[in-house]
Amino acid sequence: MPFATPEPASPSPYIVLGVAGGIAAYKAIDVLRRLRDAGYTVAPVLTPDATRFVGPLTFSALASEPVRVGLYEDPHVPIPHTRLGQRADLIVVAPATAHLIARFAMGLADDLLSATLMATNAPVLLCPAMHTEMWEQPAVQENLATLRRRGVLVLEPEEGHLAGGDVGTGRLAEPETIVELVGRIVAGYRGPLTGRRVVITAGGTREPIDPVRVLTNRSSGRQGYALAEVASRLGAEVILITTTDRTLAIDVARRVGIVPVTTADELRVATLDAASTADVVIMAAAVADFTLAPAPNKLKKADGPPTLALTPTPDILTELVRRRSAGQVVVGFAAESTDVVANAEAKLISKGVDLLVVNDVLTPGAGFESDTNEVRLLTRGQAPQEISMRSKEDVALEVLTRVVALLAQGAQ
Ligand code: C5P
Repeated sequence: MPFATPEPASPSPYIVLGVAGGIAAYKAIDVLRRLRDAGYTVAPVLTPDATRFVGPLTFSALASEPVRVGLYEDPHVPIPHTRLGQRADLIVVAPATAHLIARFAMGLADDLLSATLMATNAPVLLCPAMHTEMWEQPAVQENLATLRRRGVLVLEPEEGHLAGGDVGTGRLAEPETIVELVGRIVAGYRGPLTGRRVVITAGGTREPIDPVRVLTNRSSGRQGYALAEVASRLGAEVILITTTDRTLAIDVARRVGIVPVTTADELRVATLDAASTADVVIMAAAVADFTLAPAPNKLKKADGPPTLALTPTPDILTELVRRRSAGQVVVGFAAESTDVVANAEAKLISKGVDLLVVNDVLTPGAGFESDTNEVRLLTRGQAPQEISMRSKEDVALEVLTRVVALLAQGAQ
């Protein structure tokens, strides 16, 4: 009855090994053995379907903790999922089937393993294994994208022999590879931006005209916040320089450093300062192109329409590119309404950025104030990548995936 009383602190990292019902379940035995050899405390949780492929007895012979299958199997432990979820330092699911992935992405908790996945703040590593046709299904890939942008780690399956004599992508990653990644996660790895400092700007700047009026634009800051959220979940240390106050998910809000700014000048000072130690700078803010010296007192209607003496603001992005350190990745945004492709390609060159995220602001459902976005990603020397209409979080994942690739190129 190990859960009836508070357990002593585990001397070694506590790993919940989830096993879903696929033929690769037999390899989970090897994963378990290797995890034990590496000194981890391992609590296996099998889905009911997994027990059709492998016997719980085999796991209990090798594990350090009791093997569990059902939510209701032990009357002394009415809430095994929360105990397991809270105690885990890491949950590894190997193999993760299409059905397990879908349940997790949807937030379903209809067996002990999926309920434990819902009841944890620990990192989760999914090791999918399935037939190639299933692996390539948009449903599976979209569920995995959803989970990835929520910070779930996915160890992609390999190519090789599958059940029924087929060959293709979908074979569970080698147990050795799984255990090696477990070691990195236990040591602090949280995703491809772990150890990276990412500066993101968000929202439209506001240039005061007088004490009550401002010159601004319709940028809501949603795309910048989505980038901050996803970058943090991919392991980055994030600084968000923003003109708007939006809500971040609770776990992310604890980790993202927020720098509130209002004007283009304030945004410039804060961004250049933060960028000096950043690996990545993403200028998602809609910066005013013109500013003015504000009137000290409220302009009177009776005095007639004022003449606003506008002066251009310095281009922060150009300055960032000029000052950037070796290997730093700089990303710009371009909101266009005419000749989108030609203007964007010219801007990629003139700004000198590594990646330009292009919006056609006239597209319904894209750009300012929208929850969704449709963008084109431009990098020098590569064909443009069209990102179809999707949530701003999903767009953020695509942008950050490109950033990860650019960082890797820079490191070569
Ligand atoms: O030239 P344009 O304003 O279209 O470029 C947009 C990109 O340049 C955005 O990434 C925006 O954040 C950045 N920008 C800037 N400083 C300005 C104006 C825009 O960094 N003064």
